Amino acid sequence: MKLDYNTLYSNEYKFNEYWFDNLSSTWETIFNHIKKEIPDFKINKALEIGCYEGRATIWLANNNIVESSCEYDIIDTFGGSEVETGMENTMEMFKDKPDFIYENFKHNISFHKNIKWNIMRDMSNKILPTLDLTPKYDFIYIDASHQSDDTFVDGYYANKMLKPGGLLIFDDYGWGDPNNRDLNHSPKLGIDVFCNLYSDLYQDLIPGGSYQKYLLKNKLIN
Ligand SMILES: C[S@@+](CC[C@H](N)C(=O)[O-])C[C@H]1O[C@@H](n2cnc3c(N)ncnc32)[C@H](O)[C@@H]1O
Repeated sequence: MKLDYNTLYSNEYKFNEYWFDNLSSTWETIFNHIKKEIPDFKINKALEIGCYEGRATIWLANNNIVESSCEYDIIDTFGGSEVETGMENTMEMFKDKPDFIYENFKHNISFHKNIKWNIMRDMSNKILPTLDLTPKYDFIYIDASHQSDDTFVDGYYANKMLKPGGLLIFDDYGWGDPNNRDLNHSPKLGIDVFCNLYSDLYQDLIPGGSYQKYLLKNKLIN
């Protein structure tokens, strides 16, 4: 089925990549499921590690998934990733507009002034250890480096900061680089290590596997 993305994104926004679009129907299903199972589920505080121009971010804002006054933290280098197949367009665009990802992201979020945006611009493995590592986020989305070790490290810190009952999504569980089959050059192994180490803490919402991992953190049992 071909989705009409124009109904999801007005043309005021600036996007050059549409990686998120095929995932939006699964996100709709996941969030509908969670809201049915946990009626008091709300996203008042969110963290996104790897936002690019904000295609997923803006979908969350436009579909009332995050609360209108949400505190929304962002970590991104806004530098893309030269080593990954799929980033060729980005590298080409950098030649004319070296900061277009950051500029477009800021432009796109400017339509959502109620949300309290906090952009932390650097490598996630530099920023994450400096944060307050207490459980505070209702939602964390990881889509930054696609190296397995980096993805695990992002997940390691995310686990410390996700509240019980919160949702963690890893992107690209099913992604492989056709030009580099090295095990570390895809997030899958890092996500599998995460799921194995923390299996007691999470419910895998699509256990059979899917392109992304959707992990609901168990509420504390008293
Ligand atoms: C695939 S894009 C994210 C796509 C985005 N989720 C969307 O919906 O369009 C990956 C992003 O992660 C950023 N990135 C890559 N490696 C990173 C790292 N180690 N630390 C922080 N950001 C990183 C890149 O600059 C890029 O913006």
